[in-house]
Formats: sequence, C-alpha cells, structure tokens
Amino acid sequence: EKNGYDHFMLKEIHEQPEALKKTLAGRVDQATKRVQFEELQWSLERVEQWDKITIIACGTAYHAGLIGKHVIEELTRTPVDVEVASEFRYRRPIIDEKTLVIVISQSGETADTLAALRQSQHLGANVLAITNVVGSSIAREADEVILTMAGPEIAVASTKAYTTQVLVFYLLGIYLADLKQKITKDYRIQLLEAVLDIPNKMEELLEYSEALQRYSESIKDASSVFFIGRSLDHAVVLEGSLKLKEISYIHSEAYAAGELKHGTLALIEEGTPIIALITQKEVNEKMLGNIKEVKARGGHVLGVSMKENMEMLEYVDEGCYIPDSLSLVTPLLTVIPLQLISYYTSLALGNDVDKPRNLAKSVTVE
Ligand code: M6R
Repeated sequence: EKNGYDHFMLKEIHEQPEALKKTLAGRVDQATKRVQFEELQWSLERVEQWDKITIIACGTAYHAGLIGKHVIEELTRTPVDVEVASEFRYRRPIIDEKTLVIVISQSGETADTLAALRQSQHLGANVLAITNVVGSSIAREADEVILTMAGPEIAVASTKAYTTQVLVFYLLGIYLADLKQKITKDYRIQLLEAVLDIPNKMEELLEYSEALQRYSESIKDASSVFFIGRSLDHAVVLEGSLKLKEISYIHSEAYAAGELKHGTLALIEEGTPIIALITQKEVNEKMLGNIKEVKARGGHVLGVSMKENMEMLEYVDEGCYIPDSLSLVTPLLTVIPLQLISYYTSLALGNDVDKPRNLAKSVTVE
C-alpha cells in the first residue's frame, strides 16, 4: 500500500501534484475562467453580510490558515483573523452573525477545532469547513463544507492535506474577490493560470531531491535549526519548522526574519543551520539584511528562492531553486523542499518517520 515508497510520508509528498489536480477538478470553469464552488452557491448579498472572516484550526491546518489570511486579505480587502482552536475556545471571542468562520481540519475530528466550530455557531456565525474526510464530525456539523481531495493521509506529519488546504484558499480568495469585484478579469486569469500550473511545477521540484538529502545529512546532528522568511514566506517557514520538529526531534524555530534582532539572534553561533525562504521580491533587500545578520554570527544559510530571483542566492552558503511563479502562489512550491528536508533528516536519524514519538494522527482529546 506504500506503492514502492519506503514510508507513507514520502508517498504522500509525491502524491501532492495529483491531490492538487483532484482538488481543482470541477472548480475552475475553463470557458469563463472563473472559480466555481457548487457546494457554496454564495450570492454577493450573502457574502456582503460578513464584515470579517475568522479562520480557526490547529497545527499544520493553522499554518494553511495563515496563508489563507494573506491571500483573502490581499485579494478581497476583507479583514481575516487566524486563531489556534485551543485558544479560541477558552476566551470570549468576538464572533457574531456578521462573521464568516472557516475551520480547517484534515481529519475533521480534532476536538478543539470541533469545539470552536460549535461555539462559533452558538454565537451566530456561519461556519464553513475545509476538510479531507467526508462524513467526519466537522463535515457533518459545519454549515458548508469544501472538501480537499487529498485522499487518505496516513503519515502523522501532514503534507498533502496542507497543500490541498492552501490550494482551497487560493480558489476561495479568487472566488470571493470575483464576486465582490475586487480584482480585474486579467488579474483573475493570471492568478488562475498560476494556480493551475502548480501541479506541473511541483512535479519538476520533486525530481530533484538528492541535494536536499545531502543537506539533511549535514543538519542531522544540529542542536537547533532556524527557519526565516518574510511575508508569505514567514507562514511557510512556520510549517517547515513544525515538520522538522515533529519527525526529526531537532529543536527548531521559525521566525519572521525582521524579528531576529529582537531576541533570537542571540542563539545563532558558528555553524547554526538557517533555512531562509526568499521568494517575495518586495522584501528581497530586507531579507538580504537578515541573511547578513545571521552570517555575521557564523550561521550557515540554505536559501530557497525562485530562479528569477537567483541573484539572492549569491549571499547564501547553499541554494535551492523553485520554478518561477507568481509570488502569491510560491508557498505551494517552497513547502516541498521543507517537507523533504524534514523527511530525510528523520530518515538519517533512524526515527520512525510515519509514527513519530508522542504524537497521534488525529487529536481527539482536548
Ligand atoms: O486533522 P487536523 O487537520 O485537524 O489536525 C490538526 C493537527 O493536529 C495536525 O495538522 C498536526 O499538526 C500534524 N501532525 C502536523 O504535521
């Protein structure tokens, strides 16, 4: 059932292009170049009832929500909050019938996310669930459901569930922006083309994993690994760092690169591995400054950037390229090398990749 792969995680990493295609199927009208969600049927009137969106999830799904916030705010100018479910449910959240709540859960069974869904409905909000499991508790109780078509995810470390969740946020962002007439037709088409092209670009990326395998061997004995990025890249490094901690058991932190000098820089010493995402061109110069900061303290930097941005890789110790793409959609590409680094590091350490210690696939306790 592992289809020739050594682990479910590696199999699931490689299934991502297909999972994205399945999640896209039927959701883009080729003739009109519009996003269609048969499961939503939202009218402009309905959408305008909501003055804000609150996204609630845990772990990797929360990280997908951070990308969702960026995309929806960028495309629709609607304010979006993202909350960890276990925090949301134990305070008095400001939610009412004018809020669209989006809960994200691969399994559809995470206890804290389910409780947050119920609490939101109790406060009068409409709840949309993004989930991978038909008939799960969250799918049954939500007012509306968008299914990610990732197929069963067995490895505890989530990969294809994350990328399909992020994909749904691109589609949802474009759908809402179109409905509210916040983007031009040209931009909509440009965005859709960039999204439709992702599965092919992912295939391309997945072919070159040897260098990442070597890199993983080189960090396996590190006591700490740091991930840095700005803007959308920051949301992606949080996911990369969680993945590494989860299966390699190496301490790791993900930082908004501009925050380093407010404390974390003190931890960088000779040889500390730093993984820097550098795909958001408007902050290139700022990232460069941050890379210099860590290098000056002896940090060893792996930079991940697009081919068209490759001059940035002159300043790092090692480089990893992702195919050129619209900067808004790069998270779906940059996360691939990060998933592979965590996989190969865990493998090099002889850990149980698919079933890491202390963790369960579905967290049904509070
Ligand atoms: O099933 P869910 O999406 O609700 O699960 C949420 C988290 O428990 C999950 O994403 C967890 O963080 C993963 N093991 C990370 O790889």
